[in-house]
Amino acid sequence: MQNRIMITGAGSGLGREIALRWAREGWRLALSDVNDAGLQETLGLVREAGGEGFVQRCDVRDYSQLTAFAQACEERFGGIDIIVNNAGVASGGFFNELSLEDWDWQIAINLMGVVKGCKAFLPMLQASKGKIINIASMAALMQAPAMSNYNVAKAGVVALSESLLVELRDQEVGVHVVCPSFFQTNLLDSFRGPTPAMKAQIGRLLEKSPITASDIADHIFQQVGRGEFMILPHEEGRMAWDLKRKHPEAMYDEMTVMCAKMRAKARQAL
Ligand SMILES: NC(=O)c1ccc[n+]([C@@H]2O[C@H](COP(=O)([O-])OP(=O)(O)OC[C@H]3O[C@@H](n4cnc5c(N)ncnc54)[C@H](O)[C@@H]3O)[C@@H](O)[C@H]2O)c1
Repeated sequence: MQNRIMITGAGSGLGREIALRWAREGWRLALSDVNDAGLQETLGLVREAGGEGFVQRCDVRDYSQLTAFAQACEERFGGIDIIVNNAGVASGGFFNELSLEDWDWQIAINLMGVVKGCKAFLPMLQASKGKIINIASMAALMQAPAMSNYNVAKAGVVALSESLLVELRDQEVGVHVVCPSFFQTNLLDSFRGPTPAMKAQIGRLLEKSPITASDIADHIFQQVGRGEFMILPHEEGRMAWDLKRKHPEAMYDEMTVMCAKMRAKARQAL
């Protein structure tokens, strides 16, 4: 291991905290985002933490920008050891309210952005026998109401990660997928959905998290070190996933109650 890590969506939230966590271990960082100011801020914090690296603007929807970023990692670091496909956006709304454009936008960033990140960096990871860390969500496992496009994108990230885990095992490329519940970041800024009421409801869920983005980055660092494939940082998330696997019908009933409450709240807000 040569200690070179690349992170997408590193200009804010979890991506920034992952950068700081690995910087404290002396890793060299390649940081990308579409938010230039946020990226510069992250780089400043990384340097304060004793780390070093470079930033490059990169929209994960554009494969040519990802291959250019991979090329920059090759030129500056001579390769890469870990990639973190973290960039993502929020969305919400009941299925009947979501437009096909809402679907295309969500899938292009939260799912295809991860597919493209894996593809652009795979040759370098094969060379270094490196690791892929994909940031999915508990939404991938629980399918909460009023976020079907987000649920599907994140479930796709889990399915992709499972596929790669198996396909890349004999090449000694490690794969990890992270499924956090809600936690406070700037994710709501990117929210796209048919009603402001839904945005407000999701905002309240983000605020309720008992753990921070920094706690989650630390948990990811520890679990990747232990070789854990599926990483669930929230304790309530681990309990819910356990319940769903044992009693899926009980979870569907719970989600149906939640759905009715969300519809009632959305009606009140009209
Ligand atoms: N915050 C939560 O509650 C939560 C829960 C589960 C999973 N996640 C996931 O965690 C990841 C990080 O999100 P966060 O909560 O730190 O939010 P955030 O908004 O603070 O950070 C996301 C970053 O991704 C960047 N980004 C958005 N679109 C991009 C694009 N097309 N190309 C490149 N960069 C882009 C944004 O500019 C931003 O800096 C996301 O994949 C998100 O879905 C978040």
